Amino acid sequence: MRISPETIQQIQLRTDIMEVVGDFVSLKKKGQNYWACCPFHNEKTPSFSINPAKGIFKCFGCGKGGDAYNIEIAQDTRPTDQQLSEQNERESLLGLHDFAQKYYQEILNNHPDGQAIGLNYFKERGFNLKTVAEFELGYSLKEWDAFTKYAHNQGFTYELLEKSGLTIKTEKGSYIDRFRDRVMFPIHNVSGKTIAFGGRILTNDKKQAKYLNSPETPIYHKSQVLYGLYQAKKTIREQDNCYLVEGYTDVISLHQADILNVVASSGTSLTVEQIRLIRRSTPNVTVLYDGDVAGIKASLRGIDLLLEEDLNVKVVMFPAGEDPDSYVKKLGTTAFQDFLQNNHQDFITFKAQIYLQDAKNDLIKRAEMIHEIVSSIVKIPDEIKQRIFYQECSRLLQIDEASLVNEGAKLLQKKTNQNQSAPQNLPPPLFDDEQGFVIQVPDNEQVVSPQKEIGVQVQERELIRLLLNYGTETLKNGQKLVVYVLAEIEDLEFEHPTYQEILKKIRQDTKYTDFQALMPVVASETKSIITDLITEKYNLSENWEKKYFVLTPRETEQLDQLAIENILRLKLYQVHKLIHENEQKLTYAETDSEQDQYLLIGLRLESVRKTIAQQLNNVVLKG
Ligand code: CTP
Ligand code: MN
Repeated sequence: MRISPETIQQIQLRTDIMEVVGDFVSLKKKGQNYWACCPFHNEKTPSFSINPAKGIFKCFGCGKGGDAYNIEIAQDTRPTDQQLSEQNERESLLGLHDFAQKYYQEILNNHPDGQAIGLNYFKERGFNLKTVAEFELGYSLKEWDAFTKYAHNQGFTYELLEKSGLTIKTEKGSYIDRFRDRVMFPIHNVSGKTIAFGGRILTNDKKQAKYLNSPETPIYHKSQVLYGLYQAKKTIREQDNCYLVEGYTDVISLHQADILNVVASSGTSLTVEQIRLIRRSTPNVTVLYDGDVAGIKASLRGIDLLLEEDLNVKVVMFPAGEDPDSYVKKLGTTAFQDFLQNNHQDFITFKAQIYLQDAKNDLIKRAEMIHEIVSSIVKIPDEIKQRIFYQECSRLLQIDEASLVNEGAKLLQKKTNQNQSAPQNLPPPLFDDEQGFVIQVPDNEQVVSPQKEIGVQVQERELIRLLLNYGTETLKNGQKLVVYVLAEIEDLEFEHPTYQEILKKIRQDTKYTDFQALMPVVASETKSIITDLITEKYNLSENWEKKYFVLTPRETEQLDQLAIENILRLKLYQVHKLIHENEQKLTYAETDSEQDQYLLIGLRLESVRKTIAQQLNNVVLKG
């Protein structure tokens, strides 16, 4: 069926295309046209343009185009019978839900029990009548089948009632109401049609679920709905920000406090579909967290999804025991709005702080923390944003930025490897630039090591491993390995505290390359690491071979190479660090002569870096 051009013109006269399209997407004016992300396909940069003067739209991304009312119709081919009956069913279900919503609303406002129980409950919660009306709240009577009976009398079939989930068929074959003696929260789709309900019990009975929700139906897919979006979408666009909360009552209370750009994920973890719904209106999300610390870490993962979808995520954390609903009541509108203004925090910084509190000086937790945070950063599609977060976290966690970037590269590499089913022939080359300080050993988790290292710490471990296993071996130049290594790394300090501890001992006396001498003089965690490192002797090559299907010469035959390579990598890392620091100083240099000085240092460092990279290249190629 195609609407005739005359009709379209008629409709257009009365319809502002901006209003119709603006309802789905957020529009930005550029010249004569408005631009937005296309509602028909998923995109991040706007290629959907609207010309209000001509009343037409066109997407340069997916090619769809038309006027306000032929969006669907222009593409319509004749529907199949199956499509028709599904369409009919959806329409019947929508009709039934509309009927049910009005029924529950009527009971709440006009039935004596509705008023005494339901309305009274809302009043006690502080919801005013305007709010109750705006969210179309209702009440279901404390009877087995009050709704079902009434709906059936009005002509709705049991089949449809059962399909909607509002009615349940018992084993005995009778039909009863799903929702009984509950206050009812209709759940709307984006255009304001009721598609499901949430029903809350009125007691604090811990044995019953607090909320009962409609099941999935042809018109309700929980994962694709955000509670409150219909009421919020206009303001979300105007404010270019969306508050994300957990519960129905949070949305409603904030709304009543005049904070209108709020939606709820309804207690489940966020889905990609829900995020895309938000992104149609804004790229900015502020997550309002209940102050219950237990759940935070788990929910952090859900928030990563927002990052993946390229949203800018902020977080506001509430005091313990408060949710947005309770807290707005406590503070009142103005103070609450101030609270939001003054307490929002960037998500990654927030996450870093959560882990930082937890990790303190616990090394293993610190490693976990770094892993967690970097894994969030790598999810950000925008490289410039990523860069900023690396810098920010480097400052916050007091970890060299290059190490974080390096950890990020490892994570990405791991992901790529996991996605490839066929085994690879070569160890993954993980180069930062040209010859980064990045690692070429097989994945350490496979080998024995209780603790994850990041970046250069892998090099540090490898050097310690060589010292402990082969310290007294003689190299081709006639020197003992330990003597050579110590001379080469001079007074360089290791980042990893355990490796630094061991290095310090060996510097004190080279006899400590013998683990039997070393063990009694180190901390107990260090002991287990030492054990791992000396058993790795038998492990590493084998693992390497199994994993990458390459045969490596026995380690003893290539000690020179191993030692040199590791030393060069460590040095390269140091130079990178110095270059970075120098760049920072250059940025903040105030006088010309200061600038010249840092530029000069920069040039020198750069040439050192090249030399080391070149040497490393030679060593690696030879090997
Ligand atoms: N929820 C649910 N089923 C439950 C508990 C919770 O579907 N048994 C969903 C609801 O959408 C609820 C949200 O998770 O709104 C958040 O749960 P919770 O914080 O426990 O509820 P509140 O919304 O705070 O409800 P209230 O203030 O009425 O206790
Ligand atoms: Mn609550």
